[in-house]
This record gives sequence, structure tokens and C-alpha cells, in this order.
Amino acid sequence: MTSENPTGRGTGRARVAASILDADLGNLAHAVRRVTGAGTDRVHLDVMDGHFVPNLTFGAKTIKALRPRTRVPFDAHLMISEPGRYIEEYLDAGCDSVTFHVEIEEPIPPTLKAIRAAGRAAGLAVKPGTPLSALEPYAESLDIVLIMTVEPGFGGQEFMKDVLAAKAAGARELLRHKLHGGEVHVDGGINRETAEFAGSQGVDVFVVGSALFVRGRDMGREIRLIRALADEGYQYGINDGKPPIPRDRMTPITSLPKHLAHRLMAEIEATGIPVIMLRGDGQINPDGVRDYDLLVPANVEAHVNRAHGASRDRLLAEAEDWRAGLLAKQG
Ligand code: DX5
Ligand code: ZN
Repeated sequence: MTSENPTGRGTGRARVAASILDADLGNLAHAVRRVTGAGTDRVHLDVMDGHFVPNLTFGAKTIKALRPRTRVPFDAHLMISEPGRYIEEYLDAGCDSVTFHVEIEEPIPPTLKAIRAAGRAAGLAVKPGTPLSALEPYAESLDIVLIMTVEPGFGGQEFMKDVLAAKAAGARELLRHKLHGGEVHVDGGINRETAEFAGSQGVDVFVVGSALFVRGRDMGREIRLIRALADEGYQYGINDGKPPIPRDRMTPITSLPKHLAHRLMAEIEATGIPVIMLRGDGQINPDGVRDYDLLVPANVEAHVNRAHGASRDRLLAEAEDWRAGLLAKQG
């Protein structure tokens, strides 16, 4: 296990997925150690079959061999013609997210289904020349939309700004069914010059390859710079100057007796929003057990209050009756 610097993880909104395509492919374990040690949020693994793209890199066996070297999530980008044929191998290899291309010939739904059935994030990638509308038939099955801003196959190419400008809003729209956890990824030509614009387009995850392997540049600093610039772009590009809500911040929405807290938690989680239930330090109930706090991701707090506020208020009233009933019994 390498010494990963957890403090280096993204604290704002933007997340970096370091691509090791431009690393020393003769020592991939070292490349993984370098990017995770530099604080990347994810390791982006560019799988190429020499058929879908004119380049050949590595496959599931290599990913499986790299898996034990880090706990940082593996984000596989399959630039291969038959992802469906091999998908179980990539899931078995330990990929946390698997994104493949909408331009392939074989059927897409079964592969998306297989990825989600394995509890991983399923994504579709779109080449610069492919209209985003190609993803529409599959939108409901997507956790990730990956917008390619270079022609797939090689690192170090020029960022296609107009491609991202044309597709970012539509990509977010395709993920509207995912109240939490839907991610727009951008891949290709992201560096300290292009990160701010990409952030201003609402991108969540920034794939960065060659910009991290520039001789003489500190990789950790580059990752932190790119995240910071992306968050700046988001703040002043589409968030009216307000800083982004940190992606992993959780915020309390109420406190309830345990059995009632469980009910509200179940209702919210049924909509795909994660909830944390913590024994609070609030009031002690007549049964001697304190209320429990419920927390949700801060970036969906407003939605949760709108969608579940009435249930919360009903349960708060029910809690009052429950306490009164217990006290009456205790005399
Ligand atoms: C290209 C790959 C990208 C590439 C990004 O086909 O999908 O992930 O490695 O590299 P840079 O950041 O150098 O464009
Ligand atoms: Zn990629």
C-alpha cells in the first residue's frame, strides 16, 4: 500500500482523475503511486484496443494487477469496440467506474446494466464529432457522461474548447434523473490553461494526463492548481460568484428519535440520495435514548428540504406525540 496523501484529496467541487496514459508504461505501478501520492481523486485508466482507436495500451489483467496498490478509485475509460464482451473482466479487475463509447457497434444497454449490477458507476463517452443526442436513449442508465475534448487515442493533444461549450449543459441535462452522484467528465487537453473554462461549464471530474507529467512541474501542485482553477471557473462562470459547495460536505437536516429517523432516512435514500444517521448530542428522550441526527450531501440540501420537508415535519410532530405518550406511561 503506498503512502497516499488523503489531505491532498479535493475539498471543493472539482475532482481530478489523473490519466496514466502518458506515464512510463514500462512501470505502471510507479505511475499509479505517483498520481495517488500527488493526491489525485481518481486514477483514469485509458484502455485502448488498437481497433476502436489507433492505439493499444493495457487491459483488464493489468488493471487487476494495479488494483492492490491503491485505494483511490479506478475510473476506466474503455476505448474498445466490444466492451460488452469483456465488461465482467473490468468489473472483476476492480474498476469503480467504467465509461465506454456510444459510437460502438454492439448493444449498449446490457453493458450499462452489467456495470450497475456490479454496484459501479456506468458512463458513456462521446467523441468530439458525435452529437450528444446519441446518448439520449441511454440517459436513464447513466451515472457519468464523458465529453471527449480531443480525438480519442492519444494524450497531449489540443483542448477543443468549442466542443465542451456545445455539450456541457446538455450532458448535465442527460443526468437530471440522478439527484445525487451524476457526473459530467471532461477528457482531453485539460491543464492549468483550460481548467478554468472547463469549470465554468459545470464539469464535475477533470481527466488530466500529459499536464501532470511535465518535467520540472510538481504533480501534486498541478493537481491542486487545476482543481482550484476549475472551482474558480464554476464560481464565476455559472454560480453567480458564490463558491461551490464542497462535493463531499454533509449537512444535518433534522434530529428525530431513532425509529422515526430510520423512516425518514429510508424515504430519502429510496430516491438515490445517501443519508448518514448519527447518534446526536441533542435531547434525551423518555426512553433514555438521544435523538439521532440525519445528514445529507450539502449539494442536495435544498432539494431534500423541498421534497421531504413535509415528511420531516410530520415525523417531528409524531415524535412529540410519542414522547408525550411515553411520559404519560411513566406517570
Ligand atoms: C485520450 C484519453 C485521455 C488522455 C488525456 O484518448 O482518453 O484520457 O489520456 O490526456 P491529456 O490530458 O494529455 O489530453
Ligand atoms: Zn480517457
